[in-house]
Amino acid sequence: MTERVATTNRATTGIHEGCLISAAQLDVAEVSRILSLANELESMGFKKRAKVLEGRRAALLFYESSTRTRTSFELAAKQLGATTTLVSDKSSSIEKGESLKDTGLTLRALGAECIILRHPSSGAAEMLARFTGLPVLNAGDGWHEHPTQSLLDLRTMLSHGLGGELGAAGQVDSRTLAGKTIAIVGDILHSRVARSNALLLPKLGARVVLCGPVPLLPDAAEEIGPGVSVERDFIATLQQSDVVMMLRIQKERLAGLELDLAEYIAGYQLDEERLKKYAPKALVLHPGPIIRGLELTAEVADGPQSAIEEQVHNGVAIRMAALARALGGKKVGKKKKKDDDSKPVEKKGKGERK
Ligand code: NCD
Repeated sequence: MTERVATTNRATTGIHEGCLISAAQLDVAEVSRILSLANELESMGFKKRAKVLEGRRAALLFYESSTRTRTSFELAAKQLGATTTLVSDKSSSIEKGESLKDTGLTLRALGAECIILRHPSSGAAEMLARFTGLPVLNAGDGWHEHPTQSLLDLRTMLSHGLGGELGAAGQVDSRTLAGKTIAIVGDILHSRVARSNALLLPKLGARVVLCGPVPLLPDAAEEIGPGVSVERDFIATLQQSDVVMMLRIQKERLAGLELDLAEYIAGYQLDEERLKKYAPKALVLHPGPIIRGLELTAEVADGPQSAIEEQVHNGVAIRMAALARALGGKKVGKKKKKDDDSKPVEKKGKGERK
């Protein structure tokens, strides 16, 4: 009885501090802690790592298809010793009409300590966090946000030297990406990845240029936040970019929009010729899934400037950090001395990233 009351109260006490709902919620010190924690967990021996969340229980609740996000969250949780269970809209009572709230409460009653949610509605992750009181990790909610994707994109940029040595070690501040221009190109309107990156990267001093045709990129996109601008001309965008992040056209969300694909390809496809001519040094990113021959060509996806597979790889470390942060993982990311809040976690030499 007591437990029931406590459980009910939890649903009304607001959001758990371990939640990761939005890149907007992270200040630069928190971003630094997450990146350092990702480095620390990745460099740890696998036996020690498997004790970090030993016996903890994470539920993956997916209402939309996913390959890399779902798998990397699952692998991340398992590497930390947590058990995972997957609930998808295709094979659960969700198909019978059960609401997000009731599904969340059911998972909590079954012992889930953390929920990783992907959902087609913007705001669903925050709602689930409020309903359950559990730490909720947003794995993509509608057109809203995908915070772990932006963190893994950032980690990929830093591992390519965009933030110097300190950045590569996961120690970032508000100047780490000063003077760098990150272009995000394509279907910005429907992209939670674009929004999370546009909210996150300027916190580190980067300029974010959003590029695409009007139907996929309204002028109002500039209002996402400081450091964000809109550029319609793809060539002009390429010429100023240190990083070019290409996005998939989200056909499943296009309802009502008229888009001539041939015209789109002519104006905005990243092909080898354009890349070599206008952005020969830029890093090419894509959150996936990539559609070869549409937003970019196979030559570019597989070419020397592409870090697309590295992004996927970085997803595991970032999601380990997000899970350890959510569940208060043992003996990681803890400050060394009680009075020293600013000291970053030391990066181990062993198993470092390239
Ligand atoms: C994206 C998503 O689902 O938001 N992919 C991802 O998670 N890596 C982008 C997309 O679906 O195009």
